[in-house]
Amino acid sequence: MDYKAYIAKRLHAEGVSPDEIAGSIVVPPDTAMGDLALPCFKFAKILRNSPAVIAEELARAYPTDEVIEKASAMGGYLNFKINRKGLAEEVLGRIREEGSNYGSSDMGGGKTVCIDYSSVNIAKPFHIGHLSTTVLGGALYRIYRFLGYKAVGINHLGDYGTQFGKLISAYKHWGNREEVERGGIHAVNDLYVRFSSEATEEMQAEAREYFRLIESGDKEANELFEWFKRLTLSYVQKIYDRLHITFDSYAGERFYTDKMEPVIAELEEKGLLVESQGAKIVDLEPYGMPPCLILRSDGASLYATRDLAAAIYRKNTYDFVKCLYVVAYQQNLHFKQVFKVLELMGKDWAKDLVHVAYGMVSLEEGAMSTRKGNVIWLEDVISRCVEKAYAIISEKNPTLEDKASVAEKVGVGAVVFGALYNNKIKDIVFSYDKALNFDGETSVYVQYTCARAHSVLAKAREAGIVWEDAAIAEPCAQEFELLKTLADFPDVVKAAANAYEPSMVARFCVDTAQKFNKFYIDCKIMGAETEQTRAFRLRLTAATLTTLTNALTLLGIGVPEKM
Ligand code: ARG
Repeated sequence: MDYKAYIAKRLHAEGVSPDEIAGSIVVPPDTAMGDLALPCFKFAKILRNSPAVIAEELARAYPTDEVIEKASAMGGYLNFKINRKGLAEEVLGRIREEGSNYGSSDMGGGKTVCIDYSSVNIAKPFHIGHLSTTVLGGALYRIYRFLGYKAVGINHLGDYGTQFGKLISAYKHWGNREEVERGGIHAVNDLYVRFSSEATEEMQAEAREYFRLIESGDKEANELFEWFKRLTLSYVQKIYDRLHITFDSYAGERFYTDKMEPVIAELEEKGLLVESQGAKIVDLEPYGMPPCLILRSDGASLYATRDLAAAIYRKNTYDFVKCLYVVAYQQNLHFKQVFKVLELMGKDWAKDLVHVAYGMVSLEEGAMSTRKGNVIWLEDVISRCVEKAYAIISEKNPTLEDKASVAEKVGVGAVVFGALYNNKIKDIVFSYDKALNFDGETSVYVQYTCARAHSVLAKAREAGIVWEDAAIAEPCAQEFELLKTLADFPDVVKAAANAYEPSMVARFCVDTAQKFNKFYIDCKIMGAETEQTRAFRLRLTAATLTTLTNALTLLGIGVPEKM
């Protein structure tokens, strides 16, 4: 609930816009006078009166209702008192009614949003650099669904290019079927790394030939390629399962092999294709960008060519209202070029393409990779974090049942939350200790808060206390703060979608957990003065748990009942 906007709409001051009023309203440090206040000093000039008189006149004219129960003037300030009981009634009622749907909406009206994320490269390491795209994309996917959109998750596989020729050559020289089958993606990657450092001129030529064979449909070359692809995908699938990530399409770069020609013909026909040193390009100089390379001088297509074909294919297939590309900021120029070329082709929907760029993730110093090479595999980061979580949990709560499954939720949650908590464009240095700090701005802190709420409710249930229909009491300050935050959740989800910023949901989780813990510590729940207060507090606890569970679920983070 945006109280500032609500008040601004009902307050009329000649010559001052509602936006200006809303922007001037503050939360006073001491809420004894009111929950919100409008300082009237800066209106003195426009309204030609003293701030004190302005505040008095506005207070008299303000139409109080079930939302704002009182408006009063005090030394140039116009103070508002929110109807706390009304707020509690409304929020708790809504959360009970909507349950796991609380925060959702039908804003999307079934319209389609395509989300291109994770987009792994076949036969290459799935490393820590893929963490953000995977979890950001996954969170956006769930957020859009929650808001009534049809989301289409696309893994635009990097399965096209000369590296597959190299891989086949390396395999032919040094590989062995059983070993590769057993070693999976790591064995495949080792072959590729070896080729890069040891391949002779001859092998380089051979690799080009193998690539040509894949392209021309040669049976053996394609079988090998499909095998490498299968090994990669079955490997990443295990990580996707742990991170709760799903896709609706795995149409990767190769899928567009036969879909580029019509695009090139269209570029030609529209007079956009220019020859340059034997290559074909689209000139983007008038737009302050280097040219977009469409065909190399040897006739080979490029990454951008396939992205042009992919965008057109997606529009035709899904008729999206938006197509998001969750890709690191290193590719800013690439997407600017691709979007511009589509615009020049007259695709009016080019404006609906969005590059959701994000910053780099690195590990804190000293946290080295366990495998050779300086690549940090995402799998290792997750496993290490889960191990550490297991150790911490075992120490804190030695008798906890099912520690392994709790540690999985806590460890995976810490990795996911670490990538989602900050504004996405920021570079992040991941630290295991910080991510697993029970008292920090972390997922484990939020999960622990949920477990605390679970435990209070379980105790009450055991004691035969019912709270579901508890009468609403007049909220105290701590309860009021918590209620206001819970009420914000639906708006937070919408804002996160509009800004492509799941961090807003992550921050909401921490904020809510902090307010709940303040309430938990300051107000006795089970030991409340009256039965009515106790039931009301239990109801508030249950509502907090529902809201936090919904928020964490959107981020792809599990909620253990006990910790
Ligand atoms: N596979 C690419 C990479 O790892 C990302 C692909 C992103 N999606 C796209 N449509 N270009 O860099």
